[in-house]
Amino acid sequence: MKAFFSRLRERIGRLTFTALFPLYCTMTFWAVYPAWSGVIRVDQNPTRWTISTGHSTYQVILAADKNLVSGYFGPLSGERLFEAPDYNEPRETGTVLREIPYRGGFVEMTPALEVVFPDKNRELELEYTGYEISENEGYPVLRLDMKDIFYPFQVSQYIRVIPDLDLYEKWLVLKNTGKEDILVEEAASGSLLLPPGSYDLLHLSGDWGREFFPRRTMLTSGLKSIFIRGLKSQQHAPFFMVRPAGETDENFGPVWFGAIAWNGNWRIDCEVNRMERTQVSAGINFWDTHWVLAGKSEFRTPKLIFGLSIEGSNGASRNMHRYLLDQVMPRPFSGQVSKVLYNSWYATTFQVDEEGQVALARIARDLGVELFVMDDGWFRGRKDDEAGLGDWTPDPVKFPRGLGPLIEKVNELGMDFGLWVEPEMVNPNSDLYRAHPDWALHTPHRTAHEGRNQLILNFAREDVKRYTLEWLDKLLTENKIRFIKWDMNRHASETGWPEENPLKQREMRIRYAQNLDEILRTLRARHPEVVFESCSSGGGRVNPDILSLTDQVWTSDNTDPGDRLQIQYGFSYAFPAKAMVNWVTDDEWHNKTTSLKFKFHVAMAGNLGVGGDLNKWTAQDKATAREMISLYKSIRHIIQLGDQYRLRDPFSGNRMAVQFVTRDKSESAVFAFQTLETLPMAAKSSSESDRLVLHGLDPNSMYVLEGDTDNEETTGAALMAGGISVPLSGNYASKVIVLKEKK
Ligand code: DGJ
Repeated sequence: MKAFFSRLRERIGRLTFTALFPLYCTMTFWAVYPAWSGVIRVDQNPTRWTISTGHSTYQVILAADKNLVSGYFGPLSGERLFEAPDYNEPRETGTVLREIPYRGGFVEMTPALEVVFPDKNRELELEYTGYEISENEGYPVLRLDMKDIFYPFQVSQYIRVIPDLDLYEKWLVLKNTGKEDILVEEAASGSLLLPPGSYDLLHLSGDWGREFFPRRTMLTSGLKSIFIRGLKSQQHAPFFMVRPAGETDENFGPVWFGAIAWNGNWRIDCEVNRMERTQVSAGINFWDTHWVLAGKSEFRTPKLIFGLSIEGSNGASRNMHRYLLDQVMPRPFSGQVSKVLYNSWYATTFQVDEEGQVALARIARDLGVELFVMDDGWFRGRKDDEAGLGDWTPDPVKFPRGLGPLIEKVNELGMDFGLWVEPEMVNPNSDLYRAHPDWALHTPHRTAHEGRNQLILNFAREDVKRYTLEWLDKLLTENKIRFIKWDMNRHASETGWPEENPLKQREMRIRYAQNLDEILRTLRARHPEVVFESCSSGGGRVNPDILSLTDQVWTSDNTDPGDRLQIQYGFSYAFPAKAMVNWVTDDEWHNKTTSLKFKFHVAMAGNLGVGGDLNKWTAQDKATAREMISLYKSIRHIIQLGDQYRLRDPFSGNRMAVQFVTRDKSESAVFAFQTLETLPMAAKSSSESDRLVLHGLDPNSMYVLEGDTDNEETTGAALMAGGISVPLSGNYASKVIVLKEKK
């Protein structure tokens, strides 16, 4: 029977449930696909789709009333799974836990879908119509189709499965098959129903200068939402981890996790309903927003990425990291180590000119820097933050000969040249604004609030999109620029678009995000040699969407090494070290002085950069920098492309430690830090054990230990059972230990 279906599948290319329904309505079979045999199984009586990854199972069931019901999403389960869901219960009882929760009938869950039909009917009534299993870039995709029982409206839910990472992508495609507009008031990317039980939520929150702080809260009856409203925000990153209440182990136990890939306003809702069932739904934040689904058109939601790790939150993070590195971040750079960069911002702020930048570049090169980036201040009229944004040609006073001579000198020194831009913004004091005041977001009769003296360009407008693409394309075509730092420094206010009809005005936030993506995608296609860094006053816009279009992100404007230990630790929950740019600067935020070596060690636990005023660095400073950069170059492949294990948490003790291991387990780097004083952002306890138990090594291999350690060689088994002693004494102490498998 299996072979029969296999042959059938080969002949017709893919299975369509509707077409084949009569053939298999009484039997159970496996949808056999050579590449992912057994990943998606389709059973009958009742009809259910069971997706199995290495360690997780996801099941959807067709209920008797033709609704799709969330069956199970949890640790890998055997043949006849699970607590029996109410898949045969009629919807009148109101207990049906819908796979695509919608507004209509009994609404027991946070709706993922809310629409208004042309006759103003606000209720949906969906029924299942068919499914399809296909392939997308080497992974299986299950599509489940539903349609309204009366109106010309169809919904398809897609689930793409990445079995080796226990990870899934989910999104919806809405179709208006009629002629008249249907108004979409809510379209989340997906909803997840957790097995019965109580759960804790971990999410990453903060503000400017203290991004990515892990916050834990118990989910109790009701709704906990995290979201942004201002197009960007440091308040939250679009990421969640949910685990059984009270269980906090980093390395063991189930953790459900996920993220939203969206560069606009997003929302993650965790609802515990009256049946004590926990639902997580996530997608675009439709606050003050809607989408007009015109006749014969489609709307595709962004992807909800989600997964289940049985290796605690460390395991969940590692799966996210591998997913982002292998599947999301742009190639070819995602598979290569990043260059050590120098950024001029903290050294010069807006006072940039050719001579000053070349002087910095010479020193940077001598230290081992490979990429020299000129930050803000280079364009017309940019003396400070009050003018210039929008006028993207070199300032004739600072760069009378243009950027060419500076770029040439940087290249002659053997470095690539990079440049800062902030394309989404305009200063009212700029020629661009004087020519096109209507290009900025604005609302009539309302104060135009400025943030850092700037307004936001309405990227939803096609003319603004064209203009932005044109000047950036020209800049990259005419200059040998190999790196762009794309900044975005304010939240949205007065988000009006009075030139458009009121219906389209409320689409602005979605169109803005779509056009931003299109601009970046087009630029990357036209200039594949350029590396992009995303910045938003630090880490104000970090998510899988921006990471699919840029190669790295500026983590935080706070470069204080003590604070940074916490920020970087939080960042690592969701995002890989390669994406996390850290500069060594002269900045200290809390009236203290830490050694340059400590600063380097902190910054080396990610994507290393230098941002201090090198003119002021002593010969000793430069020697330290040379030594550290050279060490970093020898281990950056382990940090940037390897797996990461958080060993010590800087929030609950004096120590922070993190370990990186190459995927073949042959090399590892361990970073250990001690900060004795009570940092302003966390309560510290007394001293801790010196012993670090390592992870991810080959137990049968012998490892040679180098760097800040007296140990010489030990087996992987011993390192993972007893660990190594890493004594640290004093405040702001650090050590880096490198392990290499003995051949
Ligand atoms: C904010 C960024 O976070 C900084 O790194 C710097 O680029 C400034 N903008 C420049 O205005």
